Amino acid sequence: MKKILIVAGARPNFIKISPIIRELKKDKYNFDCKLVHTGQHYDYEMSKIFFEELEIPQPDYFLNVGSDTHAKQTAKIMIEIENVINDYGPDYVLVVGDVNSTLAVSITSKKMFYRVIHVEAGLRSFDMKMPEEINRIITDRVSDLLFVSEKSGIKNLINEGIDEEKIYFVGNVMIDTLLYQLKKLKNDKINIKNHGVLTLHRPSNVDNRDKLQEIFNVLNSISDKMEIYFPVHPRTKKRIKEFGINISNNIKLMEPLGYNDFLRLWKDSKFVITDSGGIQEETTVLGVPCFTLRDSTERPVTIEFGTNTLISNNYEKLNNLIDDVLNNRYKKGKVPEYWDGNASKRIIEVLRNENM
Ligand code: UD1
Ligand code: UDP
Repeated sequence: MKKILIVAGARPNFIKISPIIRELKKDKYNFDCKLVHTGQHYDYEMSKIFFEELEIPQPDYFLNVGSDTHAKQTAKIMIEIENVINDYGPDYVLVVGDVNSTLAVSITSKKMFYRVIHVEAGLRSFDMKMPEEINRIITDRVSDLLFVSEKSGIKNLINEGIDEEKIYFVGNVMIDTLLYQLKKLKNDKINIKNHGVLTLHRPSNVDNRDKLQEIFNVLNSISDKMEIYFPVHPRTKKRIKEFGINISNNIKLMEPLGYNDFLRLWKDSKFVITDSGGIQEETTVLGVPCFTLRDSTERPVTIEFGTNTLISNNYEKLNNLIDDVLNNRYKKGKVPEYWDGNASKRIIEVLRNENM
């Protein structure tokens, strides 16, 4: 029986591991798996609620690292995960996404001669000022099995000299969760109509006072056309308060939402404005217009095929595109290949057939 140690630490990680664990558990004869929660995210709304809603089992190990500088947070995870790996002695360590937990665990595992699996490999924004880009490049470099969610990932990995035999194009586990949860919601509707949704948490947008106020000046004026609901990430909440950012009453601030409440909020919205990675993908699948407040995206398929548009700081473009949405002129988009709810099944199939 193959032993797999699965690691998650931050909100988007929980959403990605849920369908993988569900599939692994179905296959009782081939796999034994244990789950580590690093504690990178710890508030109820950033962590536990996802375990409850997404049917994720209780973690077998909780590292309790909390928030800190990049160096300290990464280092704490490395120290703690070493003990876990020694205790469990896995055949594989599986990491997802691009957060500090992903980086810390992949490096530590590889140095201990364990085989590393990276789910969501190969994504590149080509912006080394993003902490996630550094995490992605290094994690991919030390990984033994690389599961790719969109085709750009294959090209990026090959260009970086990664052996093609390690790369598997399997689709998008985030979409496995989206389609699974959507079925559970059935025809649930919220009472709000004709609204936009906003999420914002990238350091490049929220950690600088002038930049953050500039963004809200634009969003305040957009919110005159239509109310915007804004579940506020804890990083952003702190900055809004610290900088005294001026936000219109038409932008409805709320605590971060659980997966289902957030899904109910955005699936029937007119548009989503975001700097999130995962939300660019989810909106593409349900055909909701998405405007990404960033200079680059590591998920180009959402622009080429999907409903996403990069705004950068071209706010006039944003205004025009929102008018296009309201007048039903915005692009409709298509669903990318293998974003069909079966990515985790494809991953498990590869792992089952893998010779260690
Ligand atoms: C992290 C990831 C980012 C990901 C995001 C998803 C890294 C480098 N960044 O960013 O890639 O897109 O998660 O949401 O790994 N905080 C709380 N409660 C929590 C968690 C955080 O109050 O449960 C606050 C703390 O003040 C903390 C700040 O948010 O200092 C930032 O948290 P951190 O995990 O360092 O980075 P994120 O911005 O959440
Ligand atoms: N999400 C959520 N509640 C919220 C905001 C986001 O459940 O209030 C979900 C969202 O649907 C997506 C994931 O969190 O599945 C994205 O995480 P986040 O934006 O924090 O991280 P990123 O994808 O940018 O790394």
